[in-house]
Amino acid sequence: MKRVMTYGTFDLLHYGHINLLRRAKSFGDYLIVGLSTNEFNAVKGKTCYFSYDERKQLLEAIRYVDLVIPETCWEQKIDDIQRYGVDVFVMGDDWKGRFDFLSDYCEIVYLPRTPEISTTKIKKEIGLETV
Ligand code: CTP
Repeated sequence: MKRVMTYGTFDLLHYGHINLLRRAKSFGDYLIVGLSTNEFNAVKGKTCYFSYDERKQLLEAIRYVDLVIPETCWEQKIDDIQRYGVDVFVMGDDWKGRFDFLSDYCEIVYLPRTPEISTTKIKKEIGLETV
């Protein structure tokens, strides 16, 4: 079984997220999502509208997603790849090059982002200015 892993915040789930998850799953048979906790979002300077549990439940309801685990720090990725036997690491190309150091452990794929949609854009348009 080929295992794929990706990470993200996935707040205010939108079709760009679904596209990313569908394409990520197509690289294997089992998709694991590392979902950033609100404590880790604070480190990244992000504030989520939905709680971790709400975001997790939404992801778990998506047919492409097999397992959701917490992402609590930048440094956990090598450990996760080894622990879950990850074969392919997938991220949107806004992260291009940033995770190339993981290529000693698995294949790295950067996928083009879906244009014209992001959590930040939704927040702005509905008047949730706190990003
Ligand atoms: N993503 C994508 N296309 C989009 C938006 C996101 O492919 N239009 C991908 C990102 O590249 C990442 C994953 O979805 O691999 C999770 O992204 P996340 O940062 O949670 O979503 P954004 O909408 O980009 O959120 P923000 O505006 O807060 O950065």
